Amino acid sequence: MARPQPGLLAEANLQSLYLLFKAVPGTEALIRHHLACFHPMINDYCDEYSESELSAFVAIGSEYWRTLFGQHAPKRLKPFPEMAKDTRVAPHTPYDVFIHIRSDRVDVNHLVGSHVCELFADSLKLVEQVKGFRYLDGRDLTGFVDGTENPHGAKRRQVALVDKADDSDFAAGSYVHIQRYRHQMERWNETPTIQQEDIIGRTKSDNQEYPSEKKSAFAHIKRTNLKDAAGNSIEILRQSMPYGTMKVQGLFFISICHSPEPFELMLSSMINGDEHGVYDKLLDYTRPETGAAFFAPSLEFLRKNI
Ligand code: HEM
Repeated sequence: MARPQPGLLAEANLQSLYLLFKAVPGTEALIRHHLACFHPMINDYCDEYSESELSAFVAIGSEYWRTLFGQHAPKRLKPFPEMAKDTRVAPHTPYDVFIHIRSDRVDVNHLVGSHVCELFADSLKLVEQVKGFRYLDGRDLTGFVDGTENPHGAKRRQVALVDKADDSDFAAGSYVHIQRYRHQMERWNETPTIQQEDIIGRTKSDNQEYPSEKKSAFAHIKRTNLKDAAGNSIEILRQSMPYGTMKVQGLFFISICHSPEPFELMLSSMINGDEHGVYDKLLDYTRPETGAAFFAPSLEFLRKNI
């Protein structure tokens, strides 16, 4: 049975390191070889620093997949759904490879990240790196708890992983979307708490969901809580974390899912809004500066396709 890369389903950590690469043309065989070595190397570090709860995954850019692995591609693989409406945007900034390293220790992430960069030194050029961190009791920098309605237990696998019956060659893999959001912190902090709560649709300090009759159409959780035609919830697993310096800060948003559609539907609901054009008001305070789509194949796929 195919097994997922452990970092896809991992529970929240204290620290993360996101590495985004462009591939050197002509080095595909080398990259495939090193991808097969990636998890054995991570496992060695997991043994050595077992208390750090280290986990990782590697995901291949939707545009780069066929260059690396040929026409044998996940059934629903497609480019990032670039969007724009009035002042709201979701730009597409493609990358060839995304490596996600997480643990409770910033030094362990640094050590592992350095080794990863050495491993791929001749084949991948690092174009962006971001360090994520847990903020207070699992809050986004807006001050709201983030991740409350994420799927738990067996549901987590069901939401995050491709099912064998759906696409047998790519079972236990995930479609991954990333967006680095930059918050306008001053503007947000000047907004009264009650208005912030209306924008999210939850209370700030004790993280209570608004009752439906109080939830505005522009509330973030109203715009992202979607149902299909049969009334079933459309879900993603969010692995986002805050990042930043004193100058630039925001959320490194990550969606992990068995299909690319749920993320696209939610993003469209946020940007384009409902049938009356009511969009997600959170987007008046934060803006994505990057956006890319990837597929993170199973451990067996990485081991065999060299
Ligand atoms: C819920 C923050 C972007 C999808 C939430 C919650 C917060 C939050 C505070 C409520 C607590 C929770 O259930 O986690 C943010 C911030 C974002 C952002 C600060 C960007 C800067 C996105 C994007 C998507 C998304 C881009 C999808 C395209 C969701 C979903 C929920 C949620 C599905 C749960 C809704 C529910 O069923 O209650 N987000 N989010 N978020 N967010 Fe976001």
